[in-house]
Amino acid sequence: MTILAIESTCDETGAAVGRLTANGAVEILSDVKASSAEIHAKYGGVIPEIAAREQIGAIIPVIAEAIEEAGVEVAAIEAIAVTEGPGLIGSLLIGVETAKALALAWKKPLIAVNHMAAHVLANWIKREGGTIPQLPAVALIVSGGHTDIMLMRSLTDWEWVGGTRDDAAGEAFDKAARAMGFPYPGGPLVAKAAEAAGEIPTEIKLPRPMINEKNLEMSFSGLKTALLNLLAENKQKIKERPELVNEIAAEFNLAVTEVLVKKTMAAVEKYKPRSVLLAGGVAANKQLRGELAKAVKEAGVAFFLPDLKYCTDNAAMIAACALLQPDYVDPLRLRPDPGLEVR
Ligand code: KG4
Ligand code: ZN
Repeated sequence: MTILAIESTCDETGAAVGRLTANGAVEILSDVKASSAEIHAKYGGVIPEIAAREQIGAIIPVIAEAIEEAGVEVAAIEAIAVTEGPGLIGSLLIGVETAKALALAWKKPLIAVNHMAAHVLANWIKREGGTIPQLPAVALIVSGGHTDIMLMRSLTDWEWVGGTRDDAAGEAFDKAARAMGFPYPGGPLVAKAAEAAGEIPTEIKLPRPMINEKNLEMSFSGLKTALLNLLAENKQKIKERPELVNEIAAEFNLAVTEVLVKKTMAAVEKYKPRSVLLAGGVAANKQLRGELAKAVKEAGVAFFLPDLKYCTDNAAMIAACALLQPDYVDPLRLRPDPGLEVR
């Protein structure tokens, strides 16, 4: 089956064409994206109204480009998939209403996709010589709005088994970035500063919230407060030695990584999965990718993570999710669902 997938949950507008291969992997024929992040940078965060207005202008050209780049005729597209949520309501409406209109005009079935499930199923996108994950799997979803540990018994049987009580890991990175004076979207800039750091001085220490508690729960809001205090305490020293900011960023990156790795490995021990999957925007973090891969391999379990370009929001993962767990809906009835549940 060949499908056209549309993604518009936040400040990005994406369209992709994908199809299922014989071994159950997803082949991506095109993946096009427009982003309004540069406009939001001026405000230090996403302004939902601006995001939606930009998407009104971007969505049709992005879809047209995705179809052209894939080299397929509209007649060859067998279904249209769209993210129904979670996300910003104005942004979701643009994607959902466009998908409904195209499904009706082109007489194609419509598939509704959950954005968080799609982040995880990006792990089924075909890799060079790669295999697909074996189930059951433990999936760590780390994005701007989510930090969840999911147990996947099959492609459609998922259970939430742990996650954050407050801030998501990506949100913590973005708040840390703001505290350090980096522009939006700051998460990757904190990671970059951390990579530029040398050894972390012993007096630069941040907590690892809930790391020793015997559960799969996490908390990142206290870490942000501890970081603000650490920056305030070291204000003068940072003026004298600006590299200290990089060292503080490195300690922050390490604290988040250690908590995520410890809790994911606790889930591995509890559920004994065949694979561990990393997903979501924070999966682009090099230290997290490296440390989790190491711990999972040491436990003798297969580790998967999407290519970098499929970690942050994209339409290819929406295509993957629609192909692997198609949820057909009536084009006249689909409404955006901004709820945060992962189905
Ligand atoms: O999945 P995503 O693109 O959007 C959501 O669905 O939220 O994730 C975006 C989040 C942002 O919080 C961003 O700061 C974070 O992912 N992020 C990173 C890195 N790249 C993106 N956080 C840490 N290190 C990175 N390299
Ligand atoms: Zn996302």
